[in-house]
Amino acid sequence: MKNLLESNHRASRRQFLQTTAMGAAASIAFPALVRGANLNGRLQVASVGVNGMGFSDVSSIGSHKAVKFVGFCDVDTARFDKADKAFPGVPHFQDFREMFSKLGGQFDAASVSTPDHMHAYIALDAMRRGKHVFCQKPLTHTVWESRQMRLQAEQSKVITQMGNQIHSHKEYRTAVKLVRDGVIGKVKAVHSWVGVQGNNYSKLQAPPAPGSVPASLNWEIWVGTAPMRDYAPDVYHPFKWRDWQDFGSGALGDFGCHILDPIFTALDIREPLSVRAEHDGINQQVWPSSETVHYIFPATRFTAGPTLPVTWSDGGRQPDQALAQMPSSAKLPGSGSLIIGEGGNIVLPHVGMPQLYPVEKFQSFDVKPESQLSHWHVWVDAVLAGKKTSDGFDYAGPLAEAVQLGNVAARFPGQELKWDAKALRIANHAEASARLTKRYRQGWEIHAVA
Ligand SMILES: NC(=O)c1ccc[n+]([C@@H]2O[C@H](COP(=O)([O-])OP(=O)(O)OC[C@H]3O[C@@H](n4cnc5c(N)ncnc54)[C@H](O)[C@@H]3O)[C@@H](O)[C@H]2O)c1
Repeated sequence: MKNLLESNHRASRRQFLQTTAMGAAASIAFPALVRGANLNGRLQVASVGVNGMGFSDVSSIGSHKAVKFVGFCDVDTARFDKADKAFPGVPHFQDFREMFSKLGGQFDAASVSTPDHMHAYIALDAMRRGKHVFCQKPLTHTVWESRQMRLQAEQSKVITQMGNQIHSHKEYRTAVKLVRDGVIGKVKAVHSWVGVQGNNYSKLQAPPAPGSVPASLNWEIWVGTAPMRDYAPDVYHPFKWRDWQDFGSGALGDFGCHILDPIFTALDIREPLSVRAEHDGINQQVWPSSETVHYIFPATRFTAGPTLPVTWSDGGRQPDQALAQMPSSAKLPGSGSLIIGEGGNIVLPHVGMPQLYPVEKFQSFDVKPESQLSHWHVWVDAVLAGKKTSDGFDYAGPLAEAVQLGNVAARFPGQELKWDAKALRIANHAEASARLTKRYRQGWEIHAVA
């Protein structure tokens, strides 16, 4: 299972890009915004983390004709090759702080594609300088950081977008439209799941023996906000940091901002009332291998009943297929969502077109696909037009808060945590409340938005 899932995980990243067609901006008027007005149709972008997903971001942002890269930053100087080949001559930096300071007024926007634990530090720095930001998912590493990102974007009046690119793809856009059009009636329950495990890549339970840091890598900056630890080859950098609580966000953090996104958009849900997790065990180092997280959301005009249960599963757990009313020959996808309505069900694969069940009820229903947009171009166009996007930090912040709240619950399995979103606290659990944030390494503290 591991190999299949891992290769799906990697393949799907390539696929996301290949299936991305370029389209016009789907943005929302943002009259209070003035930044962007003086750009003269040109966007100067500085990118942080330019390999891995960072290369996908650079390629897709840079394919917009208004974009000019003015700085590439990667903490590992051996990882500039792909970006250089695609966009020759862009100045290199190993330290994003130096890049931001040196470029000063010579950049308008930043993309952030580093491991999760550094998103907020880098993106907040950029926004505090008045720069527009495209930041990878999950937006941040903690609930508190997601709140700061939303508040800072609002305060700095910048145009933002989270990098959950399927938000703009025809599959999720079509599913959102079906739900909002009432095709399955009001929604009673949602199940979402991903096939990958939280401790998937190194399968370690504790940090291994130290190794020597490659000459190309600045380990001090890579560790950044997290507690310092020894470098070990093929355990953290690149890519495998995901498994580790200090750097990544487990399977829920890796995929929640993708798979729960159409659910949040379609149903207009934001802050859960409560969250409870069950899993196969957690320690202080790595995320659980498999878990179920039970969220309860307040009702919206798209839901049935006083509250809406949304159940997240990963690491091989899935909902009971019978709930979908699929034909016995059909199978739930390896990752996706089951949206249960009063008048039918939608199975939404990650990533695939929505399927309506029971078949007999919907066989003559014609699903009209929505258009496919480039998530990256939507952001660039919105910045140039001074309009906000539908996946800006005002939306992505609460989505990422809910996702990271699930990770707080994973530390207190079996306990129902009551979420007081307004006060940014867990009302019934002081210890869990303390886990809404984390301890920052000296010199790498993040200050709250004033
Ligand atoms: N949207 C998607 O489909 C998708 C897919 C994969 C990853 N991601 C997200 O993208 C981010 C990066 O993931 P990845 O798999 O590419 O990781 P990775 O470790 O493979 O690549 C990260 C890149 O950033 C560089 N980097 C790391 N720390 C840095 C720092 N402090 N300053 C500058 N550069 C730094 C690394 O050297 C590397 O080149 C994560 O947040 C992840 O969740 C999103």
